[in-house]
Amino acid sequence: MIKDMVVKALRDYEFYQAVDQNYDVILNANEHHMDILNEKLQDKMIEAIKNVSINRYPHPNNISLRKKYADFIGLDTENVIATVGSDEGIRVISDTFLEAGDVAVSAVPTFSMYKEIAVLGKGKFINIESDDALSVDVEKIIKVSNENNAKVIYICSPNNPSGYIYKREDIIKVIDNTKSIVVIDEAYMDFYGESNLDLINYSNRVIVLKTMSKAFAGAGLRVGFILSDKETSSYLDASRLPYNLSSVSEAIAMVLLDNYDIVKEEIDVIINERERVKKVIEKIDDVTLFPVSANFITFRSKKAEELYLKLEENGISVRKFGDELKDTLRISIGSKEENKKLIEVIKEVI
Ligand SMILES: Cc1ncc(COP(=O)(O)O)c(C=O)c1O
Repeated sequence: MIKDMVVKALRDYEFYQAVDQNYDVILNANEHHMDILNEKLQDKMIEAIKNVSINRYPHPNNISLRKKYADFIGLDTENVIATVGSDEGIRVISDTFLEAGDVAVSAVPTFSMYKEIAVLGKGKFINIESDDALSVDVEKIIKVSNENNAKVIYICSPNNPSGYIYKREDIIKVIDNTKSIVVIDEAYMDFYGESNLDLINYSNRVIVLKTMSKAFAGAGLRVGFILSDKETSSYLDASRLPYNLSSVSEAIAMVLLDNYDIVKEEIDVIINERERVKKVIEKIDDVTLFPVSANFITFRSKKAEELYLKLEENGISVRKFGDELKDTLRISIGSKEENKKLIEVIKEVI
C-alpha cells in the first residue's frame, strides 16, 4: 500500500481542506480585499513583467528584491532572505534548526503551519495552551521550552487568530531565559504598528518573519522575508532552494515596494473600516471580543453558529473553528461595500 511507503508524519495527516471560495464576499483568510496591483498599479506591473527574461533563471539569491526590501525596512541586504511567502520562511527555519525529534513550541491557538511544518520535518511540536481570554502565559512558554530543550519558539504577534499582542518585555524575557531560536511572526504587524524587528540586533537567536500576503495585497505573489542577524541569515540561506522565488513574483513585489504610499493608504482604510465593524460586533449578545490588532476581528459568542449560518446564506464566508475554539468566529475586514453587507447581516442576528 502506498500509505505504508509515505513518511510516518503523513500517514494520518489531515490534509488541509481549502475552503470553497464560491461566495460573493470572502472574509475567511485575512486577505487584502483589494487587488491593488491590478486596480492601481497595472501599467507599472505590466512594464515590470515585460522586463523579465523568463527564459533565464532568476538571480539565485534574489539580490534585487532583497536589496530593495532591506532599504525599505532599514536593514542590510545580508539581513534579508526572500521566500515563497512566510510559509516557506517557516519551512526554511525548520530545516535550518530542527533535527529529527527536536522540539518547537508555540502558544496556541496560533497559525497552524508552525506545527505542520515542524512535524513534517520530523520534529516535535508542543502546544502551550492559552487561558480562556486567549492571553499567553510567557512564563509557561519559558518553562516548557527549557524542560524540552526547545530549539524553536514561535511568537506570532499580532497572533492569528486571537489578535493577541505579545508585550515587548515578554518577548525579551523569552529571549533572555531560553536558549531557543525565537521566531517573531509579524505577518499582521502593518495593521498594528509596534514592530519588534530591532530585536534581531539584540540576539542572533531572533528571527522576524514578514510577508507581502496581507498588508501588501500580494497573497497570490507568494513573497515573504526572513530577517535576522547576518550570521544567522547565512545559515538560513543555505537551507533555501536556489531559484525559490520566480522572477515574475520578484519583479512585481518590487513594484509594490516602490509604491508603498499606495499600499499604506489602503492599510489606513482597513484600520478605519475595522473600527466600524468592531462597533457592530461589540453589540452581539454576550460577546467576548479578542484584541483587535490585525486585518481581522475574532470574537466568541453563543450567537456565533447562528451568525455563521446567516452569513453563509447571504454569500459571506467567514472563518469558524472546531472544538479547540468553540463559538468563535474570525472575520477579515473587507472593502467598505463588503463590510456594509456584513454589518447588515450581523444586525439581523443581534
Ligand atoms: C500568522 C501568519 N503567518 C504566516 C502566514 C503565511 O503567509 P504567506 O502567505 O506569506 O505564506 C499566515 C497566513 O495566513 C499567517 O496568518
